[in-house]
Amino acid sequence: MNNKTKIAVLVSGGGTNLQALIDAERRGEIPDGEITLVIGSRENIFALERAENAGIEHVVVHKDEAKLISVLEEHGIELIILAGYLTILSEDFTKKYADRIINIHPSLIPSFCGKGMYGLKPHEAALQRGVKVTGATVHLVNEIPDGGRILLQKAVEIQPGDTAEVLQKRVMEQAEWKLLPQAAEMMSREIREAKA
Ligand code: GRF
Repeated sequence: MNNKTKIAVLVSGGGTNLQALIDAERRGEIPDGEITLVIGSRENIFALERAENAGIEHVVVHKDEAKLISVLEEHGIELIILAGYLTILSEDFTKKYADRIINIHPSLIPSFCGKGMYGLKPHEAALQRGVKVTGATVHLVNEIPDGGRILLQKAVEIQPGDTAEVLQKRVMEQAEWKLLPQAAEMMSREIREAKA
């Protein structure tokens, strides 16, 4: 019987992290989990096209948590991965799915994180502060933005002359696209073992 952990990936944008998850699953690097569903926060985002191209079921749910919960329940989702998802989830939602939601953030938390720190902003802030090392963090999601338990982190060096765009790309390539699939497998295995 297939008792792999059922994963939903929630997206709002280009979906390169979603793509990294899809590619990792195809390479056999997420043996304990299965990307079952992709949920977009709005229409016409490229992440949904990536899901379509990969043959993964996808839906759009606007800011409607009751709808979100019913879709997740219908599909028996056990692990929620926020991969560039820009909607803040309520305390009720994060409590309902305690230890079952992970997020990727493009800095070494607790630096350059929290409300409003998304997109290029963490990279702009890192450059402005003059840090020499930044990176990415995968963490559990609770009611505090970027405040849940840290699962994995990876450092990335800042180079002289970096712009926020250049740094964003390096952090994605060197850290985000590696960490998120690793964390997906780590959580999937844990959840699967707990069922066995
Ligand atoms: C990434 O930098 C991720 O860390 C974040 O938002 C960005 C999403 O990029 N929180 P993509 O949609 O996965 O390409």
